[in-house]
Amino acid sequence: MTDKYAVFGNPIGQSKSPMIHTEFAKQAQQNMSYSAVLAPVEGFETSIKSFFASGGRGANVTAPFKEQAFALCDELSELAQLAGAVNTLVRLEDGKLRGDNTDGLGLVADIERQLTSLTNKRVLLVGAGGAARGCILPLLQAGVAQLDITNRTHDKALQLAQLFSRYGNIKALTLTELAAGYDVIINSSSAGLTGKLISLPSTIITSSTYCYDMSYGREVSLFNQWAQSLGARQCCDGLGMLVGQAAQSFYLWRNVRPDAAKVMQQLRSELGS
Ligand code: ATR
Repeated sequence: MTDKYAVFGNPIGQSKSPMIHTEFAKQAQQNMSYSAVLAPVEGFETSIKSFFASGGRGANVTAPFKEQAFALCDELSELAQLAGAVNTLVRLEDGKLRGDNTDGLGLVADIERQLTSLTNKRVLLVGAGGAARGCILPLLQAGVAQLDITNRTHDKALQLAQLFSRYGNIKALTLTELAAGYDVIINSSSAGLTGKLISLPSTIITSSTYCYDMSYGREVSLFNQWAQSLGARQCCDGLGMLVGQAAQSFYLWRNVRPDAAKVMQQLRSELGS
């Protein structure tokens, strides 16, 4: 029998998850289907429940439903608990729903695959929204020496630093307190999506700084353009994080690790960048 999986979001037409998981399934010879479901803004819970009642084995959840998914799970992984958001649902043998969050592991895997090992690195995380929060524990667990977090609204950065302080060396800095160069800078702010560049001091970039922008698109992002103009060592967009989180979800469902690099190449050529 074909096992059913799906991604739920609103909008959902742009989602690359069906293509990614269909490729993973082909690679790993798994008998499964993966579809995209447009859940009504007010009807996420009904939509998810009817999917699992009709035999769904697992699901991904994307904007704007990750917090609602968190709220409806019977069980949560530690990553999901700390992220406060769920992007992966697994139906357990007894029918209960377990929520996990694979975004941060996807980010860490991609940084380590494309840029550099994070062990003992000084890392700056820009932004303090849901995307940032989901990545903090995996970054700390990757063995960074120091994780600084900065945000337009400083209070939000402070709250996150406090929430994660028992897991590692994390500190909130205001945009104007930033000065020294970092080994790795990760941009999680959505400023670029509206054509704006968050104002950061140029001193944080040196010729040995690696930059990672969680967003992706046909053009180089504003943040990466800025970093390149200051001579950053290497910059990378978030396409690999997308594939990385999918690979981790796939592993949770099927216990098989798919080859992320091959699917990346296909997505990159589709994107035309
Ligand atoms: P996500 O879930 O994608 O992280 P979010 O929770 O809305 O989305 O968070 C967006 C992040 O981008 C926040 O850190 C936000 O800063 P504020 O906390 O000050 O709102 C940041 N952001 C968005 N637009 C920005 C802009 N024009 N300049 C600076 N930061 C911006």
